[in-house]
Amino acid sequence: MSEEFSLVKVNRVKDPKKLTDMEKKHTPVITSPASAKAKEPFNVSVKVGGIDGVEHPNILGHWINCVELYAGERFLGRAEFAPAVATPEVTFRVILEGSAELRVVEFCNLHGLWESKKKVDVK
Ligand SMILES: [Fe+2]
Repeated sequence: MSEEFSLVKVNRVKDPKKLTDMEKKHTPVITSPASAKAKEPFNVSVKVGGIDGVEHPNILGHWINCVELYAGERFLGRAEFAPAVATPEVTFRVILEGSAELRVVEFCNLHGLWESKKKVDVK
């Protein structure tokens, strides 16, 4: 097993103050409001990588295959991307009934699953 990533476990940032280049290009970046109203739709945008300008490749043979969004354990949506022609960015419109931890898991065809989380306060 490589120390930089795992193909048998979900990868997560180890030290947020000292990201590796592998983490910078694979970590899903979640953009959403810090708070939202219950039962009213709001946007959750996801971009894979690009942290500090370190972009993930998007070529035949190495690309981000998909992004999945969850509220805790609850599945909310999935977006799939084709190599070279679709960038790994997507906006979901979601409706929640209560506060949740948004969780995004992306899959790189070479470097496995990568996860990030963001709390949203819903009242
Ligand atoms: Fe990758």
